[in-house]
Amino acid sequence: MRYALLSDVHGNLPALDAVLCDIRSRHGDLQTTYHLGDLVGYSPWPNEVVDTLRDAKIFGVAGNYDSTVATDYKHCGCRSESPQQEALAHISYAWTRAHVSATTKAALGALPFRIDLRAFGGHVAAPTVVLVHATPTNNLVYVTEDRSDAFLLKMAQQASLKSGDVLCFGHTHKPWHRVVEGIHFVNTGSVGRPKDGDARACYAVLEMTAAGATVDFVRVPYDVERAARAVIDVGLPHEFADFLRTGGAVSPATATATAPAAQS
Ligand SMILES: [Fe+2]
Repeated sequence: MRYALLSDVHGNLPALDAVLCDIRSRHGDLQTTYHLGDLVGYSPWPNEVVDTLRDAKIFGVAGNYDSTVATDYKHCGCRSESPQQEALAHISYAWTRAHVSATTKAALGALPFRIDLRAFGGHVAAPTVVLVHATPTNNLVYVTEDRSDAFLLKMAQQASLKSGDVLCFGHTHKPWHRVVEGIHFVNTGSVGRPKDGDARACYAVLEMTAAGATVDFVRVPYDVERAARAVIDVGLPHEFADFLRTGGAVSPATATATAPAAQS
């Protein structure tokens, strides 16, 4: 079974459209495509992104942005490392809350925290693929590639994972794949707001076979300039446009935090 996994679209419709088109061209359909949350925030198409995923019957889990918008929480849950970052985060959050429709808000609130997949069914012992936004217990924690083996194994323990199983998440907007004690940890990167210096949209293809799991990261060019111009046209900060143009390779003062945070 082959799964396409998308995370952190963040209101970027041109990037999402390009990724869905790429998946259809490679795999023929979207039947085993899932999202890992953070559908809204930072870019100007929150409602259109949610509608597109609903129409394509792509299900997924709640990111921090989705659950905070849905519950009218006081903060988006994005960690900032400077007052300037914090001010920008507030602008994005306020804009998004003011522009999501009641339908979108309800859809975000209905997203589950976690989805378990069994490529070979549940009637026999088989690898489990667990989808979350950040960790199995909290959708705010940044799980970066440099986390210790012990940290990753603690996450696996929290999700009752064993060797051969796969834990998939996003949230940091940087794709990576590690295997610790036979358990796969897969950060699928970001469709609509990459932070690894590559402006192209990113998603992951996870293949589950009898031999085990394999992971490929796919980068998809899209009309970045259309998205960047739209950010500015709706009155969102120009820093968000520059972020899209550079794949997050902007000055540290304006980049959104990706450093490790303490796990709850
Ligand atoms: Fe995100």
